[in-house]
Amino acid sequence: MNAREKEEYLREYEILKKKGKPFFPYAIMKDSVMMLIVAGVLIAMSIIMGAEQGPKADPTTTTYTPRPEWYFFYLFELLRVIKPPALVPVATIGIPTICMVLLLLLPFYDRGPERVPWKRPIATTTGIMVIIAMALLTYKGAVAGSPSEIELATSPQYEQGKAIVAESGCLACHAIGENGAHGGLGPDLTDIGSKIPKEAIKQSVTIGPGIMPSFQGLGEENLNAVADYLASLNGED
Ligand code: HEC
Repeated sequence: MNAREKEEYLREYEILKKKGKPFFPYAIMKDSVMMLIVAGVLIAMSIIMGAEQGPKADPTTTTYTPRPEWYFFYLFELLRVIKPPALVPVATIGIPTICMVLLLLLPFYDRGPERVPWKRPIATTTGIMVIIAMALLTYKGAVAGSPSEIELATSPQYEQGKAIVAESGCLACHAIGENGAHGGLGPDLTDIGSKIPKEAIKQSVTIGPGIMPSFQGLGEENLNAVADYLASLNGED
């Protein structure tokens, strides 16, 4: 903006200011009326239509998959993408806080007088990229598998054992492929089949060595399916 444009802008600003109305009480009045209308509509809707509350909470369930509300999917996905535990605080607190602070400080570091989007290429590009990134992360978060899912491919005869492992809470302590607890309490099971024989695997799952709980309660047939599945994991696929 050159000197002439600036003068013109200041002159226009003076005129507009004289014509305009003060914030108090005009804008405050308008805002208050609108707020009352919105609140009234919300109250009326909840009285007339009621509120959806979903099924009753069941504290004994073991298959419940915790999911954030859809508008947090991008953060949820960010956390899923960033695997190393040391980086988790960066993903959950660091990145969102930095973005928020940058947004708050925008009026102080972007002093350009231009307001038309195509005359502010940096701001416009950044804005569009943030929207695309959030949309993409939201989408990926929405279609992401549950935390109790094993994505590692397996041949059909081991599917049953794989399903039991996925549903029995093993992933809370063990990692299998991309899933489960990396750096958790138990050893990584991705290539357990190449380390110990099937019988030893079955023995471990049945008795639960060390702090691992015993899974004898799964029953003989399920234990065999689990052992067959784990023995097939040799880290080659
Ligand atoms: C509470 C955490 C925890 C859970 C849940 C858990 N494990 Fe473990 N698991 C461990 C720990 C810890 C070890 C190592 C124990 C030791 O050797 O002292 C282990 C060891 C094993 C081993 C032997 C590994 C080796 O290299 O010798 C196998 C196999 C195994 N677990 C399978 C399973 C399966 C299958 C499930 C689910 C049905 C499961 N675990 C659930 C913690 C757990």
